[in-house]
Amino acid sequence: MSKSAENALLTPEALAARIHAVAGIAPVGTALVLGSGLGGMVEAVEGVQIPYADLPGFPHAGVSGHSPKLAIGTIGATRLAVLGGREHYYERGNPAAMRLPLETLKALGVTRLILTNAAGSLQPDMPPGSLMLLSDHINFSGLNPLIGEPTDARFVPMTAAHSPALRAALRAAATQEQVELHEGVYAWYSGPSFETPAEIRAIRTLGADAVGMSTVPEVILARFLGLEVAAISVITNMAAGMSDENISHEHTKAMAPLGAAKLARVLTRLLA
Ligand code: HPA
Repeated sequence: MSKSAENALLTPEALAARIHAVAGIAPVGTALVLGSGLGGMVEAVEGVQIPYADLPGFPHAGVSGHSPKLAIGTIGATRLAVLGGREHYYERGNPAAMRLPLETLKALGVTRLILTNAAGSLQPDMPPGSLMLLSDHINFSGLNPLIGEPTDARFVPMTAAHSPALRAALRAAATQEQVELHEGVYAWYSGPSFETPAEIRAIRTLGADAVGMSTVPEVILARFLGLEVAAISVITNMAAGMSDENISHEHTKAMAPLGAAKLARVLTRLLA
């Protein structure tokens, strides 16, 4: 069998075994997924790093500003997995692109997942550099990663999808770090083009506070897998039509570090 054919068949358990072979078998309870421009926290993990290229089914290194590797080890008192980047729907048109990586985390013992992303703000009092904890989300894409899932498990309740307990823990960590943590609703827009000002006015009317191109499919998949999940946005720009600044991926990557340092403090406190 060719190497690629062999790799194509890997199950979550087989991927977990590959990871165990490098990182040891001590259970990993928590996982972080790092968004655009936020990959630096991979380096904060005391442990091992595994390139996604060694884990078939993990994201293609498709988006600049991501760090395509998995770190397994400790931050503070917590043994965790940190995914340096994700695959977005807009890369290959697959809303379930993160299913195998999340199933692999579950096979490693992960029960608690924290997602991060870069996002545009729809709230004038939430400028670039702000952090927003997702209280809820709007799936503005019409897509769903569970389409095609044949079992009744596909009917996932989403009423308290963003874990109240984990959100409370993140809020407490932010308070301890004296970091302002906004809270609001995130709308998933498929991308890769940015939104029009009319689309932003529309989703603002619908109740969104921030907009981005990720996270929502992962929240759905996490709940499908029974993981406790919460997500934090780093605001990199005011959404289209809300300010004169231009919106671009370059700008996102340049602005992400503004909030990334605060985000790292909040997460490190949570894990301490
Ligand atoms: N829209 C969508 N995704 C984003 C934005 C935005 O304004 N900023 C960072 N990611």
